[in-house]
Amino acid sequence: MIFEAFSLGAANLSNRAVMSPLTRSRAVDNNTPNSLMATYYSQRAGAGLIITEGTSPSPNGLGYARIPGLFNDAHVQGWKLVTDAVHAKGGKIVVQLMHTGRVSHQANLPDGAEVLGPSSDTCPGEMWTDGHGSQLHTAPREMTDADIAAAIHEFASAARLAIVAGFDGIELHAANGYLLEQFLNPNVNRRTDGYGGTPEERNRFVLEVVRATTKEIGAERVGIRLSPYGVFNATGPFADVYEQYMALVQELSTLGLMYVHVLDHSAIGAPQVPAKLKADLRAAFSGPFILAGGFDKDSAQQALNEGHADLIAMGRAFLANPDLVERLRQNAPLNTPDPSTFYTPGPQGYTDYPALAG
Ligand SMILES: Cc1cc2nc3c(=O)[nH]c(=O)nc-3n(C[C@H](O)[C@H](O)[C@H](O)COP(=O)(O)O)c2cc1C
Repeated sequence: MIFEAFSLGAANLSNRAVMSPLTRSRAVDNNTPNSLMATYYSQRAGAGLIITEGTSPSPNGLGYARIPGLFNDAHVQGWKLVTDAVHAKGGKIVVQLMHTGRVSHQANLPDGAEVLGPSSDTCPGEMWTDGHGSQLHTAPREMTDADIAAAIHEFASAARLAIVAGFDGIELHAANGYLLEQFLNPNVNRRTDGYGGTPEERNRFVLEVVRATTKEIGAERVGIRLSPYGVFNATGPFADVYEQYMALVQELSTLGLMYVHVLDHSAIGAPQVPAKLKADLRAAFSGPFILAGGFDKDSAQQALNEGHADLIAMGRAFLANPDLVERLRQNAPLNTPDPSTFYTPGPQGYTDYPALAG
């Protein structure tokens, strides 16, 4: 089933294997996408759909070194190299909009930008900076109503620029502890002002971003990634997680989004997302459903056959195998990903993973 075509919003996918979003930190020049990145993505155009690495809609969201942005003309021109190269090979590609919020260091941000979060608690742990090595995260400033309105505007503006840059849509990154999930998670969001407190109030910022972006480019071009039960970036478990995500996805369903993408990082040490929650989220959402985390060919086929998802996203396998779908088709062996070059600049460990001979 994984090799069957699928119609996703306005995009006709040639198969059901999605390339998961993968931060690769190769945007070395002012967070601007470049021809090396176009080569990397075009090598992987055999995916049914590529979801790009997390890409910031705002100078304030560039918390990691060398991640790309999508908020100025140079970014649009750089991304156009990427979308043209992928489309020339018949692929489809959406950009993942990731505002890092408090998962950040001031040294990674351009002049005038600042580290923001729903609350003023500093994210535990360290962040890599090119100038000063690993540093404790910078303390965020708690966002005011004006900051929230500005961030919503930035997401909407980036969605519009995504279409100008030739993307088939956007994915809102509401997973893995970045700004959108920082609002969802009560361990991070300690607000009491209508954007925090109850599950509905914690969902509010995400839903406002969803509404603003769908108004800009149409709901059929907006997907969203969620990680209930995630622990990454000091999110962690909380009491009404089931009720909150169900309410969120029920609302997303009424808006007709392009897809909901749920990830389960239990394969890499996070708690398992209960099968019941995944099944109930799928049932609550009337559109296409993507599952991600730890899939291989057999488990992907099984999940599709059993109706748990319409599409399966794979991350590390696409990172190391530019021709992954062809290898799965042939049951060919897979290259092994090399973590030491996941985030290093340059082509090594990026565009030099070999394709099958001939
Ligand atoms: C190098 C690397 C970078 C990643 N960057 C992102 C990212 O930018 N956005 C995101 O949502 N997930 C990111 N992830 C998580 C992956 O999308 C995926 O969920 C995870 O690797 C588990 O899937 P897998 O078992 O198929 O690799 C990253 C993972 C890796 C290994």
